[in-house]
Amino acid sequence: IGTFTFVVVSNRLPVDFEEAPDGSTIWRTSPGGLVTALEPLMRSSGGAWIGWPGVADCDVEPFENDGISIVPVCLSARELEEYYEGFSNDTLWPLYHDVIASPSFHRETWDAYVTVNRRFAEAAMASAAEGATVWVHDYQLQLVPRMLRDARPDLVIGFFNHIPFPSYGIYAQLPWRKQILHGLLGADVIGFQRLEDAGNFTRAVRRLYGYPTRGVVIDVPTDTRQTRRVVAKHFPISIDAAGYEEMARRPEIQARARQIREDLGNPKTVILGVDRLDYTKGIGHRIKAFGELLADGRLSVEDVTLVQIASPSREQVGSYMALRDDIELAVGRLNGDFSTISHTAISYHHHGYPREEMVAMFLAADVMLVTALRDGMNLVAKEYVAVRFDGDGVLVLSEFAGAADELKQAILINPHDIEGMKDAIVRAVEMPRRDRTRRMRALRRRVFDHDVAAWSASFLSALSGGAAVKAGIS
Ligand code: G6P
Repeated sequence: IGTFTFVVVSNRLPVDFEEAPDGSTIWRTSPGGLVTALEPLMRSSGGAWIGWPGVADCDVEPFENDGISIVPVCLSARELEEYYEGFSNDTLWPLYHDVIASPSFHRETWDAYVTVNRRFAEAAMASAAEGATVWVHDYQLQLVPRMLRDARPDLVIGFFNHIPFPSYGIYAQLPWRKQILHGLLGADVIGFQRLEDAGNFTRAVRRLYGYPTRGVVIDVPTDTRQTRRVVAKHFPISIDAAGYEEMARRPEIQARARQIREDLGNPKTVILGVDRLDYTKGIGHRIKAFGELLADGRLSVEDVTLVQIASPSREQVGSYMALRDDIELAVGRLNGDFSTISHTAISYHHHGYPREEMVAMFLAADVMLVTALRDGMNLVAKEYVAVRFDGDGVLVLSEFAGAADELKQAILINPHDIEGMKDAIVRAVEMPRRDRTRRMRALRRRVFDHDVAAWSASFLSALSGGAAVKAGIS
């Protein structure tokens, strides 16, 4: 389908492949923030998106979807097991999230990571026109920037890491620590969520390679004894805030929010947690705090319900299977101890929901709990804020989520401090309306001023230094 001046590469495509009962193919738009952010740009520049379509052993040709060219990278069941479940999600994910779960280090899964990164890089090269801008995303594809640079020095290459980058003491555990840095340093701009992540990366480069750094600039030596300028800087990602607010204002969504409260038995306070079922999210810590508040009598099931959405994620990875057992045991115990026939303490849902339903839930929730032990950004926190056009609602937010750097008017907590988290929950439940609106107004200003369009514009302008402009994608 030709070549493009703007190419996005991510592990997942913005569309998921599904087979209809009659055997035909359905492409379902996955409603991720990245798609919304890059869609307008992709359309106006005629861009291509390279990624995995979400199933093993597919055999699909590139095609056009809604003005964007989609280039599927097909992976075998074995490759998925080793590259996706293995190295990406059983080595890098726990390592980059401060070893909350123990990372495994296997040479075979590393080999698969290299092979599959090469597959993505080759697909990107085949789609990229002379001088094109290629934007590579996230920890699954850290070797792609270098592979592109070696084969295609004409390209302008950006990389954005959506998850944290750990401190040196943790990063240094990785047997392939130098190869990964070398892979990333193939990019012209390497973006991170937090200032701290960018600092951790730059320190790792200094320690392991000794390259000179000046602020956000790293001078990387080239084969021709010159240096190449690489920028490593934080660009906190965001959401389509206006899109969320527009949805929340629809009468049918507001009616649905009222219905949700009614179905819960109209409790005085609805507390909400929305997470992928992942050990980084601190779901167990949250349940523990809530259970103790019920046991202490500081909250009662007659007045307060906790709704916990835990959407299924990476279910083939052992640590995720164990987590599901732990969480469901804790929820079952707590409900057994505290629920009554008419009041359920925790309304627990192991499902994903469409965006409309999530927006209605955000509107229905008096208190939003984000208690991550480590999180690159946590877009749920920003979504809750964007939805609350009524100026109400209290956000309780972990200081270990990237969003805490920006959302300072939330009630910030350390989720390991169960007493502190309990006090914060009670404070949120009891907060007077005047304080709630004052905080929410400030939070909304931040989220609307720094939305996802501003995020992609600032990354691409750092990347361009003129080059993206030349390629016609400014
Ligand atoms: C995080 C990662 C993304 C990933 C998403 C869902 O947000 O940063 O790269 O796509 O989780 O995880 P999954 O493994 O289902 O793609």
